[in-house]
Amino acid sequence: MVSAISILALLALSGHVTTYSDGTKELIFVQTLWRHGDRSPTKTFPTDPFQEDAWTFGGGGWGQLSPAGMKQHLNLGKMLRSRYVGDYQFFPTKYNAKQVTTCSSTSTNSEFQIYVRSTDVNRTIISAMSNLLGQYGQNDGSSVPDVDYPNITGWPTGYVPIAVHTVDDDTDHLGNMEATCPFREQVWNLAKTSDEVKNFINSEKVQSMLGNLTKFTGQTVDIDNLWIITNALYIEQIYYNDTIRTKNTWFTDDLYAQADAINDQVQLYQNGIFKTVPNVVNGHDVGVLTRKVRGGPILDDMVMHMNIKLDCQGKTTPNCTWINNLKNYVYSAHDTTIYAFFSALLIEEYAVKPNGGYPLYSAAVLLELYIDHADNKPYFKMVYHEQENSGFKDITMGIQGCPNGTSYCSLDILRNFAQTIKPDQPIDQWCYTDLDAKHAGMTTVSLFLIAVILAIQNDFMGLF
Ligand SMILES: *[C@@H]1O[C@H](CO)[C@@H](O)[C@H](O)[C@H]1NC(C)=O
Ligand SMILES: *[C@@H]1O[C@H](CO)[C@@H](O)[C@H](O)[C@H]1NC(C)=O
Ligand SMILES: *[C@@H]1O[C@H](CO)[C@@H](O)[C@H](O)[C@H]1NC(C)=O
Ligand SMILES: *[C@@H]1O[C@H](CO)[C@@H](O)[C@H](O)[C@H]1NC(C)=O
Ligand SMILES: *[C@@H]1O[C@H](CO)[C@@H](O)[C@H](O)[C@H]1NC(C)=O
Ligand SMILES: *[C@@H]1O[C@H](CO)[C@@H](O)[C@H](O)[C@H]1NC(C)=O
Repeated sequence: MVSAISILALLALSGHVTTYSDGTKELIFVQTLWRHGDRSPTKTFPTDPFQEDAWTFGGGGWGQLSPAGMKQHLNLGKMLRSRYVGDYQFFPTKYNAKQVTTCSSTSTNSEFQIYVRSTDVNRTIISAMSNLLGQYGQNDGSSVPDVDYPNITGWPTGYVPIAVHTVDDDTDHLGNMEATCPFREQVWNLAKTSDEVKNFINSEKVQSMLGNLTKFTGQTVDIDNLWIITNALYIEQIYYNDTIRTKNTWFTDDLYAQADAINDQVQLYQNGIFKTVPNVVNGHDVGVLTRKVRGGPILDDMVMHMNIKLDCQGKTTPNCTWINNLKNYVYSAHDTTIYAFFSALLIEEYAVKPNGGYPLYSAAVLLELYIDHADNKPYFKMVYHEQENSGFKDITMGIQGCPNGTSYCSLDILRNFAQTIKPDQPIDQWCYTDLDAKHAGMTTVSLFLIAVILAIQNDFMGLF
């Protein structure tokens, strides 16, 4: 397959000036969004015999990446290397953040940068580190001792550390779907009052399940905390499958399957996917609003990167240096992030495990940007890695408006789509607006009033 594709590798010196073309289409940029690997539960229910002390790996306790999770990302890193270094020769064989001075080429492609933005959680940061170890940290002779890493006892031969960046979790509206955002919660609470969701919640099946789980778990179970139970049980089946049925005497495969199916439906709703389209409550389309507030920001960010990459082609202005040198932008995040991203694009069926549900451990989306030198237009390709050991599957044609029978699609289709679910305001601002404020001016006024009230209160309390 690769031989049928023309590969142009401009090997100035050690193979780090590289391009890849498929016919007239040249790959210029890759964005990657992956989910962390296997982990311990992030919390559980009161009666669970598997409490925090049952989880000892990865430093121990809730929500830590396990050795199995590290392995999943090491393997994904090796697969990414095999695709982009091996097959495509688009990334260089060794990591170089800056062009080495011995390279005489002045091409703007002569540097290789990978920028990794992780959510600020141990398991996503360590997944990124494990992944980069697979991509650029192997003892395969591609990096140079005392140039790329210290040649000393104790340093793993061939291991080149690559920076992983992060931002504060509470304000990470791109990667963390639980970031502080009152507006998102307001939309979800409104969605729960729609006929479709109300009928679902009140259905006998759901009420009976929530009631039974409330009895078993020692806490009131509703559709908002159901995931805690199904997720803990999912992980306990991986780590304690032989004792889960004797320790949680009420656990059965059938109960789990039913609870999980209900939770899957809840997650669809939470991501703005309803059977009722449009699902309008009090004049608000809760489907579109949810997709805008959850998956909208990261899709917008990705499209923005591609637009800047394209705008900067052939330019040497200082504000283009970073993107010109950047070949790969990575988001290391969560199942909820991929789910929201796919839901925003209305391709959530690709995010699912075989019978529906959330993206699996080390699931990854690749968004590749090409320029077609025949028509001078940008194209994209979207590729999905479902889980460990699954290959890369083209999913481009699942996106509305993209043609059947080819894995390339005009970037304009994605741009236009992204425009329809772009957050109405910058997300850090939109999160603090009120759904029922008639227009932005009103919001400003009410925020001002709140500020005045707070100021008066603080003054009154002697804190001012
Ligand atoms: C992250 O890992 C550190 C140890 O490296 C640990 O002390 C800390 O509790 C962990 N944080 C969370 C939120 O799990
Ligand atoms: C690395 O260190 C070993 C042991 O000190 C030495 O034999 C070898 O020549 C060194 N290699 C480089 C590239 O400096
Ligand atoms: C809840 O428990 C009752 C009593 O054991 C049982 O009849 C019912 O089928 C259970 N509901 C579900 C959804 O499993
Ligand atoms: C757990 O055990 C059950 C049989 O008791 C089996 O059907 C299931 O596949 C096992 N799950 C895992 C994750 O190994
Ligand atoms: C870079 O700066 C120039 C001039 O200030 C501006 O016209 C251009 O839009 C900027 N490009 C990007 C990608 O920000
Ligand atoms: C694309 O192919 C699928 C399955 O072969 C078909 O159902 C669908 O209608 C096709 N879409 C277009 C736009 O041709």
